[in-house]
Amino acid sequence: MFLKDVIIEENRELKPGNFLLSFRDSEIAGESKIGQFLELKAGKGNDNLLRKPISINDVDGDLVTIIYRVVGKGTDRLSQYKKGDKFSVLGPLGNSFPVIKDKEVLIVAGGIGCGPFSYVMRTLPNWKIFYGIKDACEFLLEDELKAHEKSGKAFITTDNGSYGDKGFVTQKLENYIKENGSDKVIFACGPEVMMKAVGNIAIKYSMEAYLSLEEYMGCGIGACVGCVKKIKNPSKKDGWEYKKVCKDGPIFRADEVIWE
Ligand code: FES
Repeated sequence: MFLKDVIIEENRELKPGNFLLSFRDSEIAGESKIGQFLELKAGKGNDNLLRKPISINDVDGDLVTIIYRVVGKGTDRLSQYKKGDKFSVLGPLGNSFPVIKDKEVLIVAGGIGCGPFSYVMRTLPNWKIFYGIKDACEFLLEDELKAHEKSGKAFITTDNGSYGDKGFVTQKLENYIKENGSDKVIFACGPEVMMKAVGNIAIKYSMEAYLSLEEYMGCGIGACVGCVKKIKNPSKKDGWEYKKVCKDGPIFRADEVIWE
């Protein structure tokens, strides 16, 4: 884990309010594993004091890429930065997706939940990606995913049918499993309603599945207890315990998450 200032290589708006940012750093790139995240801080001193957790989108050599959505003062500040500006990075943080080489991995992403998956697709040998968005105007990583769509590796759904198949991405996922078998592993990241549905599909078809959970994070390193989730643990009196998404996660097995 490193804490350092990095220099922006690119900070480009992909779709209104959604940005792709890259920087070069051989130490952070060298330590990053698939599914990990960085805590970013735009601004100086106490300005925007809380760091924002953002998934590592891709690592290519020493180039690290993230995708973020403007949701508050810190990310708004970050969105105004240009090539050559500096900002503070803490990371890489959290656990990682397993590196699966002997089975097909079904990646399920909703909206900005496509964040962690360019690096996954670069790293793993055998995968398909299912990407669900409300509307074509929210299509992130458009060039990359359209190229994968052409080669039969990506399936896109929109709620309103403005691109790809109309409907929910989880339906597309389940149809694929019915047609191609369930001897596969699922990785997912997206809104909670999608994650619950993916978890239910994994349980229904007895599949190994890993969910990258989102939670409000303050410190990102396990110190503030601001990011807990109920996770099953049969050895505990109530059969569950609180775990920290930042330190014990953000990735948990679908069959151990308790949804509330
Ligand atoms: Fe502080 Fe997880 S964000 S403990």
